[in-house]
Amino acid sequence: MNLESIYRRKVVDAATAMATIESGNSIYVGGGAGAPAVLVHALCDRADELRDVQLIHILTFIDAPYVDPKYEGSFRSNSLFIGHNVRKAVQEGRADFTPIFLSEIPGLFQKKILPIDVALISLSPPDEHGFCSFGVEVGTTKPAAESARVIIAEVNRQMPRTLGDSFIHVSRLTHVVETNYPLPEAPQGGSTPENQLIGAHIAEMIPDGATLQMGIGSIPDAVLQNLSGHKDLGIHTELFSDGVVTLFEQGVINCSRKSFHSGKMVAGFLFGSERLYRFVDNNPIVELHPTQYVNDPFNIALNDNMVAINAALQVDLTGQVCADSIGSVFYSGVGGQLDFIRGAARSKGGLPIIALPSTAKNDTISRISLKLTEGSGVTTTRNDVHYIVTEYGVASLYGKTIRQRARALIDIAHPNFRDELTCAAHRMGYL
Ligand code: COA
Repeated sequence: MNLESIYRRKVVDAATAMATIESGNSIYVGGGAGAPAVLVHALCDRADELRDVQLIHILTFIDAPYVDPKYEGSFRSNSLFIGHNVRKAVQEGRADFTPIFLSEIPGLFQKKILPIDVALISLSPPDEHGFCSFGVEVGTTKPAAESARVIIAEVNRQMPRTLGDSFIHVSRLTHVVETNYPLPEAPQGGSTPENQLIGAHIAEMIPDGATLQMGIGSIPDAVLQNLSGHKDLGIHTELFSDGVVTLFEQGVINCSRKSFHSGKMVAGFLFGSERLYRFVDNNPIVELHPTQYVNDPFNIALNDNMVAINAALQVDLTGQVCADSIGSVFYSGVGGQLDFIRGAARSKGGLPIIALPSTAKNDTISRISLKLTEGSGVTTTRNDVHYIVTEYGVASLYGKTIRQRARALIDIAHPNFRDELTCAAHRMGYL
């Protein structure tokens, strides 16, 4: 049988594909901008016939109708990283959260700690050899699909064909649902003056020839906007967006001095505008890989001058960083923060950076505080922390005493809170 007829035999409509799903199944939902919107809605149409279906996913940039209270008993979501579309449900106890490093998510599926019955994914159309690309979300979706008993794939004509360890053969797919719709796009611009200052401080720390990782949130884009005067930058990151395309077009990013995957931008997933999705389509400078590879701290460390830039919600005066909860209210997840902080710390010339605006809620809350708010998780420990950056400057904490750390952090706190923090640090015996 030729490839075309193997593929054609698998093509069904979404309702037929969803008939495969049974009560009690554990389903992986493709992540990020590669989330399969048509399949998710078709699954919800079957809610009345299904009980106790678990939906496992990272961030998905589509609606998550399955967390609607009306589906209680049919579906329960389990986030490995909490996105805006499930945050309320997690916070209200109607959905679950599993803390886990991005580098270790594939292992959960492969070792059957979280066994996957069915993977719902999005793919590019097959090439002449019968291979479909996972497109913009390879990181956790490829390992999940490879671990699943049943793979139901939307083959979306608008999914870019990204290169790297990013392919699956059509013969592996159980059902194909053909779709043709634009991928979700990340909002562009909107950087605050504080983030621009943070971006400028970080840009000063980055040497020419460095390899960059950018975490999630509004700060990474602000950093990229400040790098147009740099030379020969490289990319090794879990995710990137349009800012990287701009710097590539300006000749700033060329990956020529990378010591690992020289000449290539390495990533796990992508989220940006249509411009980014066209840029990565069939583009040999971009390689996507699963996160057990991209986020492995030992692989990250093979990049000399690795600069990891991650955001945070709160830092205490000893250097403990919280990035995934506001007090005991879960907000996101560790994602790749510690993978990259540790990888950059091991890299020759590496710079592990945590960046955050000095305040939240219109300057009413200092994000630099004596203690983390009760219930907060420690995302980056005080043993791992190196540099903390706010709009007021850079605090270098690694190898420093608690007294030195408290001083350095108070110096980059918002001026309105410095006296209060100083008194509190004295009372605590830090100063
Ligand atoms: N106390 C109370 N509220 C706070 C706060 C604090 N100390 N710090 C932030 N907030 C509020 C903000 O005001 C904002 O609220 P709003 O949405 O009502 O305006 C919200 O929390 C989010 O803060 P913000 O700083 O705008 O978040 P961001 O979008 O820039 O993302 C992180 C920052 C830390 C949440 C994000 O990077 C993340 O989830 N990181 C996870 C770990 C990581 O870095 N992994 C690597 C990438 S996978």
